[in-house]
Amino acid sequence: MKNKREKIVVFTGAGVSAESGIQTFRGDTGLWCKHAIEDVATYEGWLRNTPLVLDFYNKRRSDVAKAEPNPAHIAIAELQSKFDVVVVTQNIDDLHERAGSNAIIHVHGELTKARGTDSLQMLCDIGYEPLTEKSICPNGSQLRPHVVWFGEEVLGYEEACEHFKEASRVLVVGTSLAVFPVANLLNAAPFGAEKVIVTLDLERVPEGYQLIRAEAGNMVPHVVNCWLEDQSL
Ligand code: OAD
Repeated sequence: MKNKREKIVVFTGAGVSAESGIQTFRGDTGLWCKHAIEDVATYEGWLRNTPLVLDFYNKRRSDVAKAEPNPAHIAIAELQSKFDVVVVTQNIDDLHERAGSNAIIHVHGELTKARGTDSLQMLCDIGYEPLTEKSICPNGSQLRPHVVWFGEEVLGYEEACEHFKEASRVLVVGTSLAVFPVANLLNAAPFGAEKVIVTLDLERVPEGYQLIRAEAGNMVPHVVNCWLEDQSL
């Protein structure tokens, strides 16, 4: 009988896609410097100015269509050759999928999907096509991006939490850990697990995690290589 594979949870944020040309949210060049969260990332903003919100996510979707996975996404997918890997991502892009990861939980939704305004059930694939005010769901309501806005419930939180609890290693990449409840997931990892964060800067390092300040495209392949070769970092 085959040995049970060791479980690794990889938790990612916007920084893992930065070197693919996708803008992060915080910091001087982040999206939240130019756009007000309450205008483009809340249900109230959607009701107030639907075209503005559609345009904002149409731009994000067209950026993703032009982007390619970078060495960090590719290395994360390579972990699957030896480990049972689950990627829990805050990102709404599809770069983990395109790099070959096959177990991904998008806790903040996905740009390539849309749904009826008030229905989590009426999900449809839209690929990289823009949504307009004429985009209508089969139940007759306006299609909205399948993304989690502030004040809305995170997707797959309980499932993600179970994976963290079973992990013997956790790799966190490119996140400010500023958004809750998902940042709390890190606390669900076992005390004895190996826990590493690769990001450029972080205000507060959660207990038990080792911070490596580095660009994901350089450092993630190194961490992955060490883990695949059973070497210490
Ligand atoms: P942030 O923009 O808050 O943080 C991105 C992090 O990536 C920062 O800490 C940077 O230091 C780091 N970073 C930037 N470039 C990097 C690189 N090349 N290599 C490694 N790290 C790099 O993005 P998130 O933490 O993902 O939610 O933001 C969390 C959530 O806030 C998003 O999912 C989104 C946003 O509001 C919603 O819209 C609901």
